[in-house]
Parts: sequence; C-alpha cells; structure tokens
Amino acid sequence: MNIILFGPPGAGKGTQGELVAERLDLVRLSTGDLLREARTEGTELGQKAQRYMDAGELVPDSVILGIVREVMEAQSHRAGFIFDGFPRTETQAAGLADMLDEVGTALDAVVVLDVADETLVRRLAGRLSCAKCGAVYNRHFEPPREEGKCDVCGSALVQRPDDREETVRRRLEVYREQTAPVLDWYEGAGVAIHHIPGDRPIDAVQADLTALLSA
Ligand code: AP5
Repeated sequence: MNIILFGPPGAGKGTQGELVAERLDLVRLSTGDLLREARTEGTELGQKAQRYMDAGELVPDSVILGIVREVMEAQSHRAGFIFDGFPRTETQAAGLADMLDEVGTALDAVVVLDVADETLVRRLAGRLSCAKCGAVYNRHFEPPREEGKCDVCGSALVQRPDDREETVRRRLEVYREQTAPVLDWYEGAGVAIHHIPGDRPIDAVQADLTALLSA
C-alpha cells in the first residue's frame, strides 16, 4: 500500500502518519524529518537545505527526489509507504510516479487533511519537539507532563526555527502556490483523492484515517 498524506503545514501529517504507519506496518517517509536529520548531522545536504527551510521555502526538487530514492531503495522489502510532506511540487509527483513504476507498484490514494488557517498557525506556534528523540508536543493541545521536558526521554523540548509566526505564514503561502496544485495533477492522473476533516481531536482523525485505509 502506498499512500500520500497531504495537507498544509500543521495539518497533522506527521502525527497521523506515525500512528498509521505503526498500525499498518508501513514505512513513514517524511522528507521534512530526513532534511532535519541531515541538518543535525551537519551533512552537505543538511547545510544546503537549511537556508530554504528557515525561510519557509521549498528545497529544490532534485535534492528531494535524491533522498526519497535512497530511502525507497533501502526499504523496498517493506509492505508500502506513507509519504508525509512529499510530493510538494508537480515535478516531485512525476518523480514519485516514475520511482514506483520502476519497482512495479503504484500509488493507492492521496489523503488530504483539511484544517483552517487560524488553527494551523496556532498549532505550529505551539509545537515543541524533543531535541533528542524527536517526540512532538503542543503547548495548547498536547502538552508534556512536565513543562519543557520530553515525556519519553526527559530531554529539553525546543521550538522548530521555521515555526516562528512570520515563517509559518510564508510556509502557508508556499503551500497554496506550489503544493496545493499537486492535487489537480493527481486528479488528472486518475488517483483517488480522499478528504478528512483534520480540525478535530487526534484520535477522531486517526479513527477515520484507519477506517479509510483498512477499507
Ligand atoms: P515538514 O517538516 O514536512 O513540515 P510541514 O509540511 O510544514 O509539516 P509540519 O511538520 O509542520 O506539519 P504536520 O502536518 O506534519 O503536522 P504535525 O503532525 O507535526 O517540512 C519543513 C520544511 O522542509 C519545508 O518548509 C521545506 O523547506 C522543507 N521540505 C520538506 N519536504 C519538502 C519537499 N518534499 N519539497 C521541498 N521542500 C521540502 O502537527 C503540528 C502540531 O499540531 C504538533 O504540535 C501536533 O502535536 C499538533 N497537532 C497535530 N494534530 C492535531 C490535532 N488533531 N489536534 C490538535 N493538535 C494537533
């Protein structure tokens, strides 16, 4: 099964993708997480991506397609992928279609999480993540048990540099201008597109997503 979790920044793609990947034993492939790992490790790729990410702009397609190909080749024995935050341009969508075709498989569906802009800004401005294990919290909606500390490993929680309000607003513009049109591309390619209202508690969204994918 190969699924794209689609939606604006803060829609809950990472939160839902992690839960559903575990439930259905799929590989969650998040290009944002891969880029942040490269930044933390200080690789050439990470340094190249940093200035785009901090400005809320998209990292060039050639870089993204290269890292996706690497993960897909390494995980080709697994039952399928949940793509999170990828593809974000029509070039990336076409690249993914080619890569799936090369291994004799295809995309099953695109699932869009719909959330209002004001909720997105609140979610992102309130997001905290663990610098060590990557666990994600939210000041307003999913606070840690002890303020500023990870429930899982006890390390300090930090705010992502691109979660500052002005950068969040730019990320939302970039989504509207460059990423939302990818849905038209999929419609033209005849891929099933499903919408789930994402402006509800995490469990409710997860229940709908699991029911949809199980069907
Ligand atoms: P990326 O890391 O992909 O960020 P994003 O798409 O902007 O997505 P987010 O992680 O911010 O949001 P999400 O939808 O995953 O929400 P989450 O579950 O975390 O990309 C970052 C940057 O990398 C890009 O700007 C770009 O520069 C670059 N990049 C990445 N991929 C690229 C690509 N393919 N091409 C080019 N450039 C690329 O939730 C957010 C918060 O809300 C959390 O605090 C969470 O706890 C909370 N929350 C989630 N769901 C709910 C709910 N139902 N109710 C209440 N709170 C909730």
